[in-house]
Amino acid sequence: MKQVCERIKNNLLSASCVELNNVMDNSLAEFGQCLNAAQINVHLLEDQLHQYLWMRTSGKKEFPIFEKVIINELEDGYIINGSVQTEFFEDIIYQLVLPLRSEGRLIGLAGFLWTAENKMVKEVFDQIEQICQTFSLVLARKIKEDRALSDIHQMEKIFMQTVEAFSSIVEISDPYTSGHQSRTGELARAIARKMNLGYDVEHSVYLASLLHDLGKFYIPAQILNKPGRLTEIEYSLIKTHPSLGYQILKKIDFPWPIADIVLQHHEKINGSGYPYGISGDDIMIEAKILCVADVVESISSHRPYRPALGLDSALFEIKEKQGTLYDVDVVEATLDLFIKDKYQF
Ligand SMILES: [Fe+2]
Ligand SMILES: [Fe+2]
Repeated sequence: MKQVCERIKNNLLSASCVELNNVMDNSLAEFGQCLNAAQINVHLLEDQLHQYLWMRTSGKKEFPIFEKVIINELEDGYIINGSVQTEFFEDIIYQLVLPLRSEGRLIGLAGFLWTAENKMVKEVFDQIEQICQTFSLVLARKIKEDRALSDIHQMEKIFMQTVEAFSSIVEISDPYTSGHQSRTGELARAIARKMNLGYDVEHSVYLASLLHDLGKFYIPAQILNKPGRLTEIEYSLIKTHPSLGYQILKKIDFPWPIADIVLQHHEKINGSGYPYGISGDDIMIEAKILCVADVVESISSHRPYRPALGLDSALFEIKEKQGTLYDVDVVEATLDLFIKDKYQF
């Protein structure tokens, strides 16, 4: 039994958080056999001790529900023959419930159930207590891992909300393009996915799209919303927006090259774009995707200087200039997306 206990302890302590459920179930089953127990359960309690956050069992999937009064008693010691809800456990005549503590605080409990009177010798009880110490360590680690995971999710949520708040800044001065960046983002991400470029490209192209026209915040609203044709000076002012967006975004230490993608989103593969007129492979794939998504969304939507031209015109534009202005593979994936997959904004 000692050897089995040592192996169970090692297995539990070396299990990763992904493996924990399986390892715990197997360990409980094995230990249950050693003890000739009908069932062993391990419960993780929430802070207020009102409910279980996580439960594993060696046997039936039903768990005994311990009353609050029992949990209070566990603060002081362990329980032998505490009350068990009888619906699933009517044949249980003997039970042992041990507290699982971390730094003196009750964090869980371990229940051992038998269908026969159990005259437990001291050596066996010692093994049970030792295993329970391991359960306590495992639960304490699980609490920390769950908290870390929830902190990461919270940070991710805050990060996306910050990006969205930034994204909405440009819509203050350019209400006509309300929703343009988010629709472009959805489309650009779908194109990247269609091209099988992997999560990092998909995600970075999405984030950069949400922010790609941020630099327009510096351009006077009269120019952005001008219904007629722009003068050369006005147009040259508009052309500064990728660099202005880059200046803002390069101050943020994104784990992806968001500022560079934004800087290049009006570059064209024949070098006729702006701000630098770079061409071909000098343009990042993310920027080539964003460029096509931006054009398709813009042509499909209403603009102050013209009504919406519709999706057919948008697809005609990219097909016609495929290989001159727009990357061949990106255009191919975009056409596939709309024609075969029936993508819709
Ligand atoms: Fe732009
Ligand atoms: Fe745009």
